[in-house]
Amino acid sequence: MKNNHLKIGFGLVLILSMSMNLFGQAAGVEEKIDSLLRLMTLEEKVGQMNQYSGFWEFTGPPPKQDAAKVKYEHLKNGMVGSMLNVRGCENVRAIQELVVNESRLGIPLIFGFDVIHGHKTLSPIPLAEAASWDLEAIEKSARIAAIEASAVGINWTFGPMVDISRDARWGRVMEGAGEDPYLGAKVAVARVKGFQGDDLSAPNTIAATAKHFAAYGFVDAGREYNTVDIGTSTLFNIVLPPFKAAAEANVCAFMNAFNILNGIPATADKFLQRDILKGQWGFDGFVISDWGSGKEIVNHGFAHDLREATELAANAGSDVDMESYAYIAHLKNAVEEGQVEEAVIDDAVRRILRVKYKLGLMDDPYKYCDPSREKELLYHPDHMAAALEMATKSIVLLKNENQLLPLKKDQKKIAVIGALAADKTSPLGSWRLGSDDGTAISVLEGLSNYSTDFKYAKGPDLTEGLVHFVFELKINETDTSGFAEAIQLAKESEVVVMVLGEHGFQSGEARSRTKLDLPGLQQQLLEAVFEVNPHIVLVLMNGRPLAITWADEHVPAIVEAWQLGTQSGNAIAQVLFGAYNPSGKLPMTFPRSVGQVPIYYNHYNTGRPASETDVFWSHYIDESNKPLYPFGYGLSYTQFEYADLQIEDTNPNAIEVRVTVKNTGKMKGEEVAQLYIRDRVASVARPVKELKGFQKFALNPGEAKTLVFTLTNTELGFYDNAGKFLVEPGEFDIMVGGSSQTGLAGKLMLK
Ligand code: BGC
Repeated sequence: MKNNHLKIGFGLVLILSMSMNLFGQAAGVEEKIDSLLRLMTLEEKVGQMNQYSGFWEFTGPPPKQDAAKVKYEHLKNGMVGSMLNVRGCENVRAIQELVVNESRLGIPLIFGFDVIHGHKTLSPIPLAEAASWDLEAIEKSARIAAIEASAVGINWTFGPMVDISRDARWGRVMEGAGEDPYLGAKVAVARVKGFQGDDLSAPNTIAATAKHFAAYGFVDAGREYNTVDIGTSTLFNIVLPPFKAAAEANVCAFMNAFNILNGIPATADKFLQRDILKGQWGFDGFVISDWGSGKEIVNHGFAHDLREATELAANAGSDVDMESYAYIAHLKNAVEEGQVEEAVIDDAVRRILRVKYKLGLMDDPYKYCDPSREKELLYHPDHMAAALEMATKSIVLLKNENQLLPLKKDQKKIAVIGALAADKTSPLGSWRLGSDDGTAISVLEGLSNYSTDFKYAKGPDLTEGLVHFVFELKINETDTSGFAEAIQLAKESEVVVMVLGEHGFQSGEARSRTKLDLPGLQQQLLEAVFEVNPHIVLVLMNGRPLAITWADEHVPAIVEAWQLGTQSGNAIAQVLFGAYNPSGKLPMTFPRSVGQVPIYYNHYNTGRPASETDVFWSHYIDESNKPLYPFGYGLSYTQFEYADLQIEDTNPNAIEVRVTVKNTGKMKGEEVAQLYIRDRVASVARPVKELKGFQKFALNPGEAKTLVFTLTNTELGFYDNAGKFLVEPGEFDIMVGGSSQTGLAGKLMLK
């Protein structure tokens, strides 16, 4: 006897799972859930809405000392519905057994984990992957992440992060797809499909989560966990589209956010979670809070205490409480005393159970706990090959004066300089909780496959002391040892490959920066090397756009290599030696100076866009308005020419835009053709440019291809300030080219 109820156990759950209805047909999932809900006590229902972190890992403020004991008791008593941060099949099985065998109903747990860009085999950080504009490759990367994660018992990822952000100071830009809602929505769908696959009940697919709902990418001044206050036009047209796309792709879960949005904590935001997500969009999955965001409602000044925060969050549609200990402490009482209706609880539990059924956990709670899969699949050679392909596709060539790149196969006397060139951990990037330190191929290792004629000088260290993702990073600002050796080597060399940038943990959660320069002594090192040898190829490793304006003015070749994951060095070497012709395009604007941030291509025109005669126009007196590198920008070792733009508007429901692209250079290459629109006059002013289509394709030298883009109401319309989607007739500019700032332009009159 437990909790004054007879023990029923998993056996019954299984019987319910297989049960027949009155007509002898297999009962549908909804009927099974109804039956189960009827058996559940209020306390057990609340238990499904409670999530704890594993005992040995945390990704937020650590729990109190006695938490492990409390968690153990709660697991045993059916007061927990899901766990996060549990590692390995054996541990997952042990906890699942505890719940299934000991709790009264034995309802299996879901095991969540931050599988963000791979589990063991790491793909590039998500921002880098978005730079590939290759949706198939991105989907495959998420698929592999799901295969590896599910092999260690995980059946739910807290990804993809679909937050749009225009602020490179915010450390979490590394985790998203950049600044654009159209690209962001496409990438969101690719990632959801990759994680969830075609059959969620298969043992190698996992539930995905669209996060952080909503507007977390717009934190004031790019400072982590800060306030968000944005207008409705930005909310509906920029922030929400990737979330809507993820919901339409049947993502299983949404995660709300730490921030307040226009005065309302996202976790307690009824408008977002009930009206829009579960109402207008008809989302039938569940919403989870972010780590402790339930209790932070009190800190925001929106609730007096944890009890009130509990009521507000549950009523607003936040179904699962991650590590606030709020629902488990107060929700039952809140229902009994009438502040929360039991129907709210039933709805939340129904949503959670639905996902458990979809995953097949109700039939077999241990289906993700096969240690032989764990052994076979982690770091599988096929995964390594795919990670390499994804990494090469994510690289963006920013500058290539006098075709310094690709390096010749017999290039003599190459100097490689920079601490990051030998680093086997930093290129793995941030948000890689399942991975192993030191598993990246370094640039030095990669280069050794192509050249024997290079020497390495580290230069100054990038960091000081201990480096771990939960601690603040100390960047070396003072110790210049290593300068002399690097300068000497540069003097003796024909070409210098400098590998500079951010440490892997300088971006990610709680890693906001006020500067966007090369951290520590690296700028000084770059300038000192340039003095003695200007033939520099700068390879950048970073988790966010950097303002490398000096480098752009002086250094002849610049390669944006982000943090490319396990295969980093191999991918970089392939690009440097021309084994792969770079094809990436920036998913986020690179500023000239941090003072320009937020800077983004789809801005409004302003009332005073430009003046040549006076000072009273929208500009800075000490910096241009222009970005250093615009959204959509990226070079290739070959050239592409755009010609013959045609806009066919005889069918107003599907306007066809044609353009011919030719490879006019000497090398095979891939191009990303981008289509932008501008709605010249509308009832709510529209931006000067909006991406509404793109195609990535390969062309041999001399080869041409005619592309067809189709524009329908979906692309030509916009949301007004009440969130209503409008398509208004009138004049549109149509632009097609290889970046947001170059290409051909035409006109469309929408009738
Ligand atoms: C992050 C989430 C993450 C969660 C669990 C939070 O701090 O904001 O994105 O999924 O921790 O690790």
